[in-house]
Amino acid sequence: MFDFPDSVELSRLPTPIHELRRTSVALEGARIYIKRDDLTGAVLSGNKIRKLDFLLAEARKTMCDVVITCGGNQSNHARTTAVAAAQLGMKALLFLKNNMTLPFEGNLLLNKMVGADIHYISAEEYARVDALMAEAARDYDKRGLKAYVIPEGGSNALGAMGYVRAAEEIARQLKRMKLKIDSVVVPVGSGGTYAGLLVGKYVFDLPAEIYGVNVCDDKRFFTRKIAGLVEEMLTQFSVPVNFNKQDIRIIDGYVGKGYGLSSQPEIDLIKRVAKSDGIILDPVYTGKAMLGLAEEMKGGVLRENKTILFVHTGGIFGLFPKKTLFY
Ligand SMILES: Cc1ncc(COP(=O)(O)O)c(C=O)c1O
Repeated sequence: MFDFPDSVELSRLPTPIHELRRTSVALEGARIYIKRDDLTGAVLSGNKIRKLDFLLAEARKTMCDVVITCGGNQSNHARTTAVAAAQLGMKALLFLKNNMTLPFEGNLLLNKMVGADIHYISAEEYARVDALMAEAARDYDKRGLKAYVIPEGGSNALGAMGYVRAAEEIARQLKRMKLKIDSVVVPVGSGGTYAGLLVGKYVFDLPAEIYGVNVCDDKRFFTRKIAGLVEEMLTQFSVPVNFNKQDIRIIDGYVGKGYGLSSQPEIDLIKRVAKSDGIILDPVYTGKAMLGLAEEMKGGVLRENKTILFVHTGGIFGLFPKKTLFY
């Protein structure tokens, strides 16, 4: 029996799993199913709210008034934190990498609408964002307010528990659907989603390999980061499983032009999936991960797979500031 930590239960669960019929046919590989974590909410959509369910429960339990976090200027995590904090009656302070000349579009617009305070910082300052967030928490403390600091992407041991819970959900759904899958494919941006799914695979006997397509950095970076996160989770939550670092399967080679930058094959595939199955992928995470899946089915690590489950981790609001790429 596995006891999950307390949760504020803001995410709409379970999210459905269904087949991407026409995309599967068009890509001429395995049957592709999709786990619709883009449906965890409307403005709370995507993978981040599963992590925040646990993180914000801790913030509430410790009577925090303010939630502090960070990310890129179109960070889905920062937006989800800002919206969830507003829903729980807390204030949000966001440290966003970039300058303030950006138009209030996509996630930035939503941050503004829910009243988040935004500190724009340069890339150099972002390199020490953890220290900046700790300093901001101390400043609040001096003013008699208690702050809860959440690391980039909500990717610490507690946040990643959100995807242990998702793995349990997936295992239950596959059983009910009598569906056998070879692999789960998920984008990797800060590693928490992947780490949670891997721990969940061990705990709930999810009978599939977990593949992560990194959208920034490289395989070495994420193998080390995810291994650290998994060790932290197993210790912090006394999870009695044997972790083998070899089980971390990162598919590198699909960062393309770089984090947040789109290449033509990614754009073409996003448009194709939208037209064939009505699923809107995002340009920063799921578009790159789906391209990784499509290419690896042809002659790479997924070539012998018959059935693959792709986790749609959301990110739709990041599409709007890039709209001109798509028409
Ligand atoms: C839409 C979306 N998908 C995937 C990811 C990657 O998840 P993780 O940061 O847990 O690796 C993120 C955030 O980084 C995201 O916003």
